[in-house]
Amino acid sequence: MSLFSKFAPLAAQYRQLEEAGANPFNVSFDAVLSPTEAMIKDQPVLLLGTNNYLGLTYDPAVIAKAVEATELYGTGTTGSRIANGSYDGHKQLERALAGFYNRKHGMVFSTGYQANLGILSTLAGKDDHLILDADSHASIYDGARLGHAQVTRFRHNSPEDLANRLRRLEDTPGDKVIVVEGIYSMLGDTAPLREFAAVKREYANTYLVVDEAHSLGVLGENGRGLAEAAGVEEDVDFVVGTFSKSLGGVGGFCVSDAEGFDILRVVTRPYMFTASLPPGVIAATLEALHQMHSRPGLRRQLSENANRLYNGLAALGFTVGPEPSPVVSTVMPSPEAAFAFWSRLLHAGLYTNVSLPPATPKGLALLRSSVSAAHTSAQIDHAIAMFAEAGQELGLISPAGGQKQGEAVFISAR
Ligand SMILES: Cc1ncc(COP(=O)(O)O)c(C=O)c1O
Repeated sequence: MSLFSKFAPLAAQYRQLEEAGANPFNVSFDAVLSPTEAMIKDQPVLLLGTNNYLGLTYDPAVIAKAVEATELYGTGTTGSRIANGSYDGHKQLERALAGFYNRKHGMVFSTGYQANLGILSTLAGKDDHLILDADSHASIYDGARLGHAQVTRFRHNSPEDLANRLRRLEDTPGDKVIVVEGIYSMLGDTAPLREFAAVKREYANTYLVVDEAHSLGVLGENGRGLAEAAGVEEDVDFVVGTFSKSLGGVGGFCVSDAEGFDILRVVTRPYMFTASLPPGVIAATLEALHQMHSRPGLRRQLSENANRLYNGLAALGFTVGPEPSPVVSTVMPSPEAAFAFWSRLLHAGLYTNVSLPPATPKGLALLRSSVSAAHTSAQIDHAIAMFAEAGQELGLISPAGGQKQGEAVFISAR
């Protein structure tokens, strides 16, 4: 069909993967048994490629709340909050999020993607400037495209480049809105937020948005994310995040102290023109937030597991990201190698992800893993053993462990 001819080269590659029976972009789980185990075509697999950082998807209290709310209020709201009304749960969750972050206002979106679309497209108007880290998630770029602001990118995680860009814009009218992430989803590196906050403080009419999608529930004494961990929450004007990772559900949010915040509800199209989250999802998220907050042990376990996997893979000789984090990616020499490795691991019973450009920084082909607090040490060790066997078999690491034991190879994310 000619409409699709523009996709022909991609379609050919996709067909090749399908024909080889190993398409990482089209995996079906026949059953999910727990946060760490699933079945694919009668084969048990260990899950090392979810964003279920705290393992809350099967938490009995979270499930009970979802069931109770669904029985009481039904399966869906069937419309947007502006046109069809809010349920008490939506408002309760917004209050809970604002309270958790010690902020005045909270706003819930139907996905984290929509939170970024909504917030970034409305905060910065046509005479304003959005200043984005170059490695920003697609939802941040798409938010910029939906709005009318001038868009400037700065070098990933570079406070110097951010300062240069702001300096050049100093005499240009309009507000400046800087957008960075807490933990970057491809290499697991964190933003130098203290330095970014210091740069922001030097410029008038400049605001800081932090997307804590991968750092909520992961970083900070209370799990509020990188801003809490770095001690710069006061410098952050808007926190955006998602319920789909550490909270194990779906949805997104923004919290802030900004005066007049609620006007966003009637100017933000990805909030106004889409159905609000179902009562069961809202109730599950409220409970997951409570669990996350009241069980700091989950965060400690996650950190232990992340270090175990990161150090284990680095010691085998794989090139890993610049710092330990629940996202542990290994750099592959090519997309083909990534596909082969992914397929070999799946065959052995380990589910991971393949990440390719343009979603990845520096044009890297990555085999991306992510750990959960729900993984046992034995599961992580088993995963590392599978990496070792498959990596040696495919010649990605040497049998002795490419590097000396413990001497890790890191890629610089800056
Ligand atoms: C940094 C970042 N922001 C936003 C999102 C979107 O969140 P969601 O998948 O919940 O829509 C993601 C998803 O991976 C992300 O990595």
